[in-house]
Amino acid sequence: MHKIDQTAVATRVAELKRLIEEYNHQYYILDAPSVPDSEYDRLFLELTQLERDNPELKSQDSPTQRVGAKPAAAFGSITHKIPMLSLDNAFSDEDISAFVRRVNERLNTTADIEFIAEPKLDGLAVSLVYEHGLLSYAATRGDGAQGEDITLNCRTIEDIPLRLHTNNPPEWVEVRGEVYLLKRRLQAINAQAEKTGGKVFANPRNAAAGSLRQLDPKITRQRGLSFYAYNIPQTDLPTQQAALQQLTAWGFAVSDKIQLVKGLNGCQQYYLQLGQQRADLPYEIDGIVYKVNDLALQTRLGFVSRSPRWAIAYKFPAQEEMTELLAVEFQVGRTGALTPVARLKPIFVGGVTVSNATLHNMDEIARKDVRIGDTVIVRRAGDVIPEVASVVLERRPSDAKKIQAPSKCPVCGSVAMRMEDQAAIRCMGELSCPAQLKEAITHFASRRAMDIEGLGEKLVDQLVDLEFVTSVADLYELKLAELVAIERMGEKSATNILTAIEQSKNTKFERFLYALGIREVGVTTALTLVKAFKNLDELMQADQERLMQVKDIGPIVAESIYIFFQQQHNLEVIQRLLKHGIHWQTVVIEPQNSPFLGQTFVLTGSLVQFSRDEAREKLQALGATVAGSVSKNTNYVVAGSEAGSKLDKAQKLGVTILDEDQFLALLAQYQQ
Ligand code: IVH
Repeated sequence: MHKIDQTAVATRVAELKRLIEEYNHQYYILDAPSVPDSEYDRLFLELTQLERDNPELKSQDSPTQRVGAKPAAAFGSITHKIPMLSLDNAFSDEDISAFVRRVNERLNTTADIEFIAEPKLDGLAVSLVYEHGLLSYAATRGDGAQGEDITLNCRTIEDIPLRLHTNNPPEWVEVRGEVYLLKRRLQAINAQAEKTGGKVFANPRNAAAGSLRQLDPKITRQRGLSFYAYNIPQTDLPTQQAALQQLTAWGFAVSDKIQLVKGLNGCQQYYLQLGQQRADLPYEIDGIVYKVNDLALQTRLGFVSRSPRWAIAYKFPAQEEMTELLAVEFQVGRTGALTPVARLKPIFVGGVTVSNATLHNMDEIARKDVRIGDTVIVRRAGDVIPEVASVVLERRPSDAKKIQAPSKCPVCGSVAMRMEDQAAIRCMGELSCPAQLKEAITHFASRRAMDIEGLGEKLVDQLVDLEFVTSVADLYELKLAELVAIERMGEKSATNILTAIEQSKNTKFERFLYALGIREVGVTTALTLVKAFKNLDELMQADQERLMQVKDIGPIVAESIYIFFQQQHNLEVIQRLLKHGIHWQTVVIEPQNSPFLGQTFVLTGSLVQFSRDEAREKLQALGATVAGSVSKNTNYVVAGSEAGSKLDKAQKLGVTILDEDQFLALLAQYQQ
């Protein structure tokens, strides 16, 4: 009886081990778990209890042995049976072509050699020794001859099989590979560390090394390390490719980016290809490793001092470097956002010399505790703008200076402030800030604003760069001679532009308001303001409270309008504009009396007499609402030529449909 029980328990233990390993594989390697965590936890608990009650069934390859191992007092040392060498580095195409040439010469051939090209993972090399298929010990590279015993920690890494997936394992085999951390794991670890005040890691390599060399393997497990196998130092297999296949069959994770390439050409193509994918890979790589595929050829090539002649590491330019933060300046963008920019002692990073790097915003400065005089780590990843990634606190000089948020725009001196819910500090100078001038003028001249034809972005850039225009008001003082002086500008187009500027003086109140470029004031809000305030003066006098009484104007919009009219610069520009003769008619038809009041229109298709924008403006001026899509609340659909689905829908819903002529006739009855 007792015997039978024992057999049943042993069977259950074996089944649990198999299931848990399978779920581990799904979860950690395939990223596709088939059972919920709770089920996994239940099975895990059951196995732990069975093993506790039947110690004779507990084995080294049990998934329970991945956790809970006693913390080691210190790492023991392990002597590598086969020394762990390092790789020669290449930093340029010339270095690689010299490597390929050397290989060809040594092998006395001109044929294209086959190489296995592998991503060079930015983690740390680990040696795993399996005896009779069971993981018996794991070591770091150490000095190449002796490494640290990290067996317990490696047992917690899900990608490392505790038992090789084979029925006839070799008596003894060593497997080498890289322990690394996924980018998203690093982010999660750092986010957690920030919350709890723990150690924030600067890069995945540090984090991987720090996590692996924990005395408490439980911590290692929490960190969620990964492992890619890339080498069997002693094997009878014919090629590196076959070795990688063997590793896969044994249950190891092997990078799916690994490729067989031929000759120098193949190496170069792979470099370009992987370089492009680099930013999108889920883990960091710092280069490419090329290995002669044929292991017999590898043996013939042998080693020179501490590295093999049959392999080379082509390193990408370093993406992180250390340098000194000399000063911080605030740069004003076209939208008025003040971005803190670090002025650095020039440093070669990511393939270029960098002397400026972004600090993003004040929150980031506070989070990283960056101070002037600090030694900082600058990162330039791919084509991304260089940034200050972190501070080397140990190197902080005693006179390091804190960075103050500016209260004034460094370019125009206007108030700079931070709006609620926004990370950026903004210059409130708007129209008068030279840094924002180009944006402001382009906006001022745009179709829905003052509609100055021909005054596009290119011309605006030139006018500002040549200092012909230092505020939008200057547009109305432009001379023909100035315009003609601009490169590639003929007298004809110069005259046209002056005419367009002149014509823009006859405008509408809402267009003028929109043209001012007040933050948060778009076409619709401008119209709302026009309806709510008798004239410009009244609007300019309004305080926030008064503004917020207007329907649809909330505190943020109100604040923005109020601050705009508080700026002396803005008032001056407005005065000048009015003096130049910009004028508009006070609305004749009071929307209150308009039959369009409260009616909802949808415009579709193209109109001949005017643009949809113009039609919308006319309707809104008459108190109608113009909606983007047809619903049962729509009163009229104005259908131009080539009207599509909106017209169909209107027909289905029985909404009144007007063609352009009918629409014009309707408007004519009510327009001034
Ligand atoms: S092979 C003798 N393959 O790079 C050859 N190394 O600079 C041993 N590394 O210590 C290394 N990815 O930490 C090899 N696919 C790869 C690698 C790789 C990353 C690391 C490894 C090694 C270092 C040498």
